[in-house]
Amino acid sequence: FQPKLLAGRRVLITAGPTFEPIDPVRGITNHSSGKMGFAIARAAAEAGAEVTLVAGPVHLPTPAGVRRLNVQSAQQMFDAVLPLAPQHGLFVATAAVADWRPAALAGEKIKKTAEQRVPTLSLTENPDILAAVARLPAGQRPWCVGFAAESHDLLRHAREKRERKGVPLLVGNIGPATFGQDDNALLLVDAQGAVELPRAPKLTLARALVAEIARRLANAPTF
Ligand code: C5P
Repeated sequence: FQPKLLAGRRVLITAGPTFEPIDPVRGITNHSSGKMGFAIARAAAEAGAEVTLVAGPVHLPTPAGVRRLNVQSAQQMFDAVLPLAPQHGLFVATAAVADWRPAALAGEKIKKTAEQRVPTLSLTENPDILAAVARLPAGQRPWCVGFAAESHDLLRHAREKRERKGVPLLVGNIGPATFGQDDNALLLVDAQGAVELPRAPKLTLARALVAEIARRLANAPTF
């Protein structure tokens, strides 16, 4: 008999892009497919965890046994995640959260007029969900895993991001850009150093990542 790796654990995961409305018909978003986060949700559930998945707008079925909350904007994702985080022992932030949103949301569709053919869009910064969860007081703070998608110098950026966000494990997507693809390769950066999970289907990688996380969690002082 082999016990399931995450039996008895509660896991919170963000996935997908966010959508930042400009007016009732337009918005700012990105190409995140949500596939990696959904694969991790499935792998965590298979490993016996109770999984909550907070998903931005994606067209993916909910993995079996996973509780899913749908959101659109970064602020909605933040508002869903922060109250849930203290009830979870593990937080995996895979969402490609928009860094900025329009400073003002137009109540009506912005029209092209003779006076203003090109509107000026002013942006404001979105809250950093992962950094906020990682700053929760001990006892309320889940063990946090962040992701990084970089175009170059992945190891250096992943190390810097790990420090800046204050998380024990930072997972880098090894390029080229993996958005929408079924394969990926990952670089796991923690206090001990860096290990690579070689290119494989996202579900295979998700299962390997869950095993790596479970091993670290077993040794984590606060969980
Ligand atoms: O700073 P950057 O966006 O590159 O960091 C990526 C990591 O931080 C990912 O784990 C992502 O889910 C998380 N993040 C977040 N909230 C933001 C921006 C990023 O949770 N506003």
